Amino acid sequence: MRVLVTGGMGFLGRTLVRILSSEGHTVVSYDRRTGNNNENERVSYVQGDLADLPLLVETIRKNQIHTVIHTAAISHPYFSREIPYQTVMTNAVGTTHVFEACRLSNVKRVVNFSSECAYGNNAEQEVVESGESGRQAGRSRVAFKILIKNDRRVRLFIKQLMF
Ligand SMILES: NC(=O)c1ccc[n+]([C@@H]2O[C@H](COP(=O)([O-])OP(=O)(O)OC[C@H]3O[C@@H](n4cnc5c(N)ncnc54)[C@H](O)[C@@H]3O)[C@@H](O)[C@H]2O)c1
Repeated sequence: MRVLVTGGMGFLGRTLVRILSSEGHTVVSYDRRTGNNNENERVSYVQGDLADLPLLVETIRKNQIHTVIHTAAISHPYFSREIPYQTVMTNAVGTTHVFEACRLSNVKRVVNFSSECAYGNNAEQEVVESGESGRQAGRSRVAFKILIKNDRRVRLFIKQLMF
């Protein structure tokens, strides 16, 4: 399988890249940070931002990607307070770019990593869908969820991806 991992230099993305390549998959990491392209023949690194839709499309097409695992995000509430605009541009707009790049390139499967912080601070209770986040890191995830909910074409696309 040929897999694109967004955020492939991050905490979870890095592990995914390692496990997938060790299982014999060809992996492309797409991240603002870059790795060593000579380290592992099954892994290549593209340095790019989620804001760059043309580069996302080019990377998917050039590498004939079947599956995208989307982990790139600004996930920590502390950073989201410091850089609220960048947080929205990455988590809401950037995630939309990932789905649009997949739609334009006919990628059939996208795995989207979200976060429990989208549902607010529920330390005392279960995480529930109706929970509300007070922080930009969470709100920007909810924004993407709302975009999907209200856009019939995206909803259909997600259904197509799931079946
Ligand atoms: N780590 C956890 O325990 C945990 C728990 C629940 C959910 N998650 C979710 O899983 C995902 C990955 O988490 P993580 O801990 O690996 O995060 P991380 O911060 O370690 O990694 C995120 C990666 O995304 C990249 N990135 C950020 N903005 C980008 C942009 N605009 N363009 C391109 N690359 C960009 C960063 O350079 C980084 O390498 C996030 O969505 C997070 O909310 C993580």
